[in-house]
Amino acid sequence: MRKIKKRTFTGTTDTAVSEREKLGMEIAREAAAAGIVLLKNENNVLPIEKGSKIALYGIGAANTFKGGTGSGDVNERQSVSVFEGLKNAGFIITNEEQVRDSVKLYNKAREDWRDDILKKCEGKGGAEFFIIYSTNPFTLPENKQEITKTDTDTAIYVISRIAGEGADRHNKKGDFQLTDAEEKEISAICGLYEKVVVVLNAGRVMDVSPLDKHPNIYGIINLGQAGMEGGNALADIVSGAVNPSGKLTATWAYKYEDYPNAAEFSHNNGNVNEEYYNEGIYVGYRYFDSFDIPVRYGYGFGLSYTEFSLEFKGIQEDKGRGVILDVNVKNTGKVAGREVIQVYAACPDEKLAKERRRLVAFKKTKLLSPGEEICLSLDVPFERLTSYSENESGWCLEKGLYAFYVGNSLTDSAPQALMELDKDVITEKTMHICKPEKPVEEYKADLKLVEGRRTEIKRLAGTLPVVSIKAESIAVKEIKYLSNEELAAVKEMEIVKSLTEEQLRRLATGDPGRAQEESALGAAGISVPGSAAETSFCAEDKGIAGIVLADGPAGLRLNRYYFVRDGKMVPISFMFSLEGGLLVPDVDKTEGERYFQNCTAFPVGTVLAQTWDEEVVKKVGCHVAKEMVELGVTLWLAPGMNIQRNPLCGRNFEYYSEDPFITGKIAAAMTEGVQSVKGCGTTIKHFACNNNEDNRMGCDSILSERALREIYLKGFEIAIKEAQPMAIMTSYNKINGIHAANNYDLCTNAARNEFGFKGMIMTDWATTHNGPDCTAAGCMRAGNDVVMPGCENDQVNLSTELASGSLKKADLEACVSRLVRCVLQSNEYVE
Ligand code: BGC
Repeated sequence: MRKIKKRTFTGTTDTAVSEREKLGMEIAREAAAAGIVLLKNENNVLPIEKGSKIALYGIGAANTFKGGTGSGDVNERQSVSVFEGLKNAGFIITNEEQVRDSVKLYNKAREDWRDDILKKCEGKGGAEFFIIYSTNPFTLPENKQEITKTDTDTAIYVISRIAGEGADRHNKKGDFQLTDAEEKEISAICGLYEKVVVVLNAGRVMDVSPLDKHPNIYGIINLGQAGMEGGNALADIVSGAVNPSGKLTATWAYKYEDYPNAAEFSHNNGNVNEEYYNEGIYVGYRYFDSFDIPVRYGYGFGLSYTEFSLEFKGIQEDKGRGVILDVNVKNTGKVAGREVIQVYAACPDEKLAKERRRLVAFKKTKLLSPGEEICLSLDVPFERLTSYSENESGWCLEKGLYAFYVGNSLTDSAPQALMELDKDVITEKTMHICKPEKPVEEYKADLKLVEGRRTEIKRLAGTLPVVSIKAESIAVKEIKYLSNEELAAVKEMEIVKSLTEEQLRRLATGDPGRAQEESALGAAGISVPGSAAETSFCAEDKGIAGIVLADGPAGLRLNRYYFVRDGKMVPISFMFSLEGGLLVPDVDKTEGERYFQNCTAFPVGTVLAQTWDEEVVKKVGCHVAKEMVELGVTLWLAPGMNIQRNPLCGRNFEYYSEDPFITGKIAAAMTEGVQSVKGCGTTIKHFACNNNEDNRMGCDSILSERALREIYLKGFEIAIKEAQPMAIMTSYNKINGIHAANNYDLCTNAARNEFGFKGMIMTDWATTHNGPDCTAAGCMRAGNDVVMPGCENDQVNLSTELASGSLKKADLEACVSRLVRCVLQSNEYVE
């Protein structure tokens, strides 16, 4: 039997910044700078020489949002604002006093907001608190400061927004749109200063159309929510110390109404019970590109301070696997920089309608000096080119011409080569999963546009290189569908068989911890204060440790500190885990010795994805894992990898993209990083179709099987196949009428049988608290191994159903066997 480590108090009483923290900050800054996207740079307004004078405006300048709220937040020691970052880099802020004053205004607004939330929540339980908290987010106060000309010709204006789980955003002023006050300030600044740069400090897309009115806004930087080092990273970009190389992973339309599903999304149509995915596969750029809708900033777009030339070198068959494209990239400008090469495929669409183009490969260059060049090989496996045929119930490679567009953004990519397939191939025959009750009415392709494109591709075949592929060279994958019971972890069964029924039941749910008396959401863990939960300790006598799970995805989310008195932890309200502790104002009156758990606040998911750099993401993951080991955490509840289906989803900042391929690749890189450290694992979430937050626990996502597979499961499939995350978290919502947590097709057929997932599956927090159609026993039958964070009702439900026979003991044992397999990999054991 393996020896379980004895738990001690986590963290440190030492107040000095540790070497681990310093390294975390360094990596956070590198990742942030790599993920910032330069959207506009006319008249070479950027970079600005260090030491120059800058007038700095916008309340977010000194109060920059480093991330979003809720479980996606991180409680770091301190974060660097845009103001501090620019000062650190040696810029002279001409209106420094005004900027400093805005901190007082901000702090007052934060206190007022806190008091208001606490008042509204008086006497309310944790669940009610969360509804009130998430539907009343903090908004920045109006900046009433006078704007006057100062001693410089250059001004920077910062626009900030924050959001979080539990509520979607609104297409209104102060949220998706600018406020009247912001517009007024911008007009005043543009009237006084010759050159203006706008910095967008929001975790997601916004409507920036009012900026068009001002020709002297020469620069726009999409900082996003870039973590605790965001201000320093921004200064790196402004000064040119780092040449921008981030690229958008979502489309910025001209206006909200341009997005598919704009009118129906979430609360917009007054129905938050059902969400119809009528756009089908036409999500994000797939929609704009297919229907020729012009956009403000297209997918994959981002500027640099240098120029690159791309030279296509050739295409070859990668026998039986796919094709490889070689591209030469040369830095033809004056400063060093990095470029992202993107390959988009246009697939034949005689039988199945397709999106016009889809991302199938990308690579980021190393830093290239002026004049330096590099040849990149980009792999396009056949599975990137398949579409799901509901008629054939399988992944289908249609015969015909596939055109490959290569460039540094979707808009700026040009056709370079083609592949011709002689016959249709079903590369993988599947069973049907999650079928909607009635066919979903989906957008139909515009046949006139489609016809024109087909003709164009035929013409290209006469001028560009074409590689011919024989259908018989392509391997066809057979899937064996095993039952939940057959998928049990064999080696661990011996231990499982030795457990009592009570132990089995307790292991199948988390240790209720603080969820018993306080909130089940976010901070139920006891051993590591601020952790989201822990698994049951009931079978330590059999060598099964209780493991700790803590949130992400922008870093490790724990309480920044806690107190120990008389050898015991002093309980503090679960609210201390939110908003950097703001909601527990008198915490510092607590008596006892302080233990610090300072973690690194990395850039949010979207900014990480905007790096298009798997290596830097791996570095982030590896560092998070080091913090996990130090603080006694086994599973990180990250990455979040839902598709950004609409710009108003409250959690878009946590997610990577509107595209499933980059989502899957970045999640795989993050998992590789975390799991390169022994005993640590990721939890990819929220599986699946959790694309809106209003009524997230009750909403039914209604969509076709094809859209589900091609868009919403694809990223998970890639992450699982490439990196085998230790765990999956199911989402709260239903999918075509069945809760994700109780969904056998999702957990067993898709994740395990089709994608080959070997880890454990858990529910999202308190999923089973919401009525009889999602139960703990239902989870076990579906192959959803652990109900989190667990409560006594789950125990009652499991006992009752075991007794009545509606839950087979074999299903429960299969689930527990996979939990045990996961636990045995934990860092909770003595080596
Ligand atoms: C969120 C999850 C999170 C969990 C634990 C839930 O409210 O949806 O993303 O991991 O809480 O904090």
